[in-house]
Amino acid sequence: MPPADYVPLLDDGEKLSEDALRALQLERLKWSLRHAYENCRPYRAKMEAAGATPDDLKDLSDLSKFPFTAKDDLRAAYPFGFFAVPMDRIVRLHASSGTTGRPTVVGYTRRDIETWSALMARSIRAAGGRPGMKVHVAYGYGLFTGGLGAHYGAEALGCAVIPMSGGQTEKQVRLICDFEPDVIMVTPSYMLAILDAFRREGLDPRKSSLRIGIFGAEPWSEAMRGEIETAFDLDAVDIYGLSEVIGPGVANECVETKDGLTVWEDHFWPEIVDPETGEPLPEGARGELVLTSLTKEATPVIRYRTRDLTRLLPGTARVMRRMERITGRTDDMLIVRGVNVFPSQIEEQILAVPDLAPHYLLEIARPGRLDELAAIVEARPGVEGPAREAAARLLAHRVKSLIGVSVAVRIVDPGAIERSAGKARRVRDLRGA
Ligand code: DLL
Repeated sequence: MPPADYVPLLDDGEKLSEDALRALQLERLKWSLRHAYENCRPYRAKMEAAGATPDDLKDLSDLSKFPFTAKDDLRAAYPFGFFAVPMDRIVRLHASSGTTGRPTVVGYTRRDIETWSALMARSIRAAGGRPGMKVHVAYGYGLFTGGLGAHYGAEALGCAVIPMSGGQTEKQVRLICDFEPDVIMVTPSYMLAILDAFRREGLDPRKSSLRIGIFGAEPWSEAMRGEIETAFDLDAVDIYGLSEVIGPGVANECVETKDGLTVWEDHFWPEIVDPETGEPLPEGARGELVLTSLTKEATPVIRYRTRDLTRLLPGTARVMRRMERITGRTDDMLIVRGVNVFPSQIEEQILAVPDLAPHYLLEIARPGRLDELAAIVEARPGVEGPAREAAARLLAHRVKSLIGVSVAVRIVDPGAIERSAGKARRVRDLRGA
């Protein structure tokens, strides 16, 4: 936990009262809808087809009259069809990797970069980062928004940035030991690879200078937070974002509460909808997160279907609302004999078994007519023979009794599961293979 005398540092947006925030959101939402309608042909076409014009928005709740935007809409307009400003106002392009098909391309005006940097600075501050600290960025640099987003935010806050990017794990460890950063920004799965490397070299990670970790870009669990915090003796907070909406810095956890991510609502309007029907769900219900940008110039998003599952909760550390840690994406949901399962739920159970390490891969196969789930999990070093068998039985029992699915557990040696330098791949789908 942060020191007992920890005082959060807030910017003007974070200090708004709820009434002032709602008024600002309404004003900005009107601007954003009009901007999209007037300057981006596909948005105008979609709104016209739905019989809605920006004048129809009198209240924040009127947004539900406007059509959704899906990743496929953006893909169909590849590369620049959704840009709402001329190319000579664009100062940066990013693209989402996407596992299949064309990437989606997003643009930034100079002001968009300033907005994004300010939101990332706010996110780092919410995590406990302060001007003068050193920030080691191990998110990938490049078309992925993680590296450069973190970089600009840390600079805007007044930190010294170490732009390490992902990969070269031994070098990561050397730089952490030599440069003594206070903060690390990296995917949680790659943080585990860095942890392995510390241990391989006989270094005590708890003695490292790192005090704050800002982890995101992939689902992770409360149990994983505990694992990383204990291993490094640091505060681990969750950061969320997606390239289509701006990149990292849409929402960030506040270190003083660690109770879900505060949505930076002065720049993004969140909604939760039923992932099947698209119907808006009541406050507090779990469903798919839909985001509308309120200030973005180059590539505004109107009711963007993120496919990420969460729920909205009232603000605690800030006036702005929180979103619960993302359970997973609708596309990552495994349906095993009718039961919906997310890899992050299995991760929780793996970490509840003391002899198992947080390195795992799930395999889904259909040898006969029904899907079968297997979990391949590394043993902790020194766990052998009967202890492994007992750990496998315990995990299968926990998954069956707490999640409701049968899983075949295979325990493998430490290091046997491939490490990733960015987003981990947790599921191998062998159906149709
Ligand atoms: O992953 C942006 C990012 C970079 C966020 C660094 C946080 C830190 P994309 O590559 O477009 O952008 O992928 C976005 O990643 O829709 C979620 O499914 C997932 N995701 C991002 N953050 C989290 C998180 C970046 N904290 C997609 N928890 C999103 C769970 C996350 N999933």
